[in-house]
Amino acid sequence: MAPTFDHLLLTQPQDDVWLITIDRPKALNALNKALLTSLSQAFQWLDSLPTTKVILLTGNGDKAFVAGADVAAMQLMTALEARDFSHLGMALMHQIEACSAPVIALVNGYCLGGGCELALSCDYILASENAVFSQPEVSLGITPGFGGTQRLARCIGKGNAMQWILTGDRISAQDALKLTLCHQVLSPSELLKGGLAQAEKIAKNAPQAMRFAKQLIHQGLNMSLHDGCQLETERFALSFTTQDQTEGMAAFVERRPARFSHQ
Ligand code: COA
Repeated sequence: MAPTFDHLLLTQPQDDVWLITIDRPKALNALNKALLTSLSQAFQWLDSLPTTKVILLTGNGDKAFVAGADVAAMQLMTALEARDFSHLGMALMHQIEACSAPVIALVNGYCLGGGCELALSCDYILASENAVFSQPEVSLGITPGFGGTQRLARCIGKGNAMQWILTGDRISAQDALKLTLCHQVLSPSELLKGGLAQAEKIAKNAPQAMRFAKQLIHQGLNMSLHDGCQLETERFALSFTTQDQTEGMAAFVERRPARFSHQ
């Protein structure tokens, strides 16, 4: 049975597919220390399960994915406390990127500040038509603190990230789609179904090969093209040591569906 985590609902809508729902509705799912810690614990637990194939992350209710870091909690922070808070958020974002299983953000409503940074640390984003993205930190007298300046620029390019972060503009789901911040826009009632459809496709593929591919994409973004390609050669070769390679290629030749293990 799944453990419980404060401010989170953890469910398993399909075999090997988990849904984390952020559940702090009174503050529109704003991220405080307790919630960041719970998210970290939940990802750690899911990552420790050998059978986890896909993780979906969403917010409870139809109004917000996450309306930002908790402004009320940040209001009285000293610089040292702010640094600790940033470290906590940064560590969670790195943890999500390093998580073995693919993580898909299902953005349902406001996705602001720390919420946008949280979505950016997921492997990709599906958004509902009512999603609103923004990094409004400079309007509060602070910078983004959970990796927004870095991941947004890598995701949508320097000029777009500059305009977005310096204006604090709110971006619709359709505009986020044009900027390739999100990859599909669905009606609010179809968002979870869309996420589960993606999860079903992903869960059919070889887990270890997907792990390698995910690592390669994340690590490669911080490397030169040459170094990234070299790393790909190594992982490509390593994938030939897995039972899934034997099974995947045998299934293709025998014209049958592959039955992948986690080996
Ligand atoms: N931190 C803490 N509490 C937050 C919050 C945040 N980031 N975002 C919303 N809340 C709280 C509100 O204070 C309010 O609590 P209350 O009912 O106890 O007063 C509750 O959530 C509902 O928000 P409210 O502002 O009344 O809803 P709204 O529909 O009028 O506006 C938003 C929604 C998201 C536009 C507005 O809440 C907002 O601008 N939030 C802050 C966004 C932000 O700056 N985030 C980045 C932080 S770095």
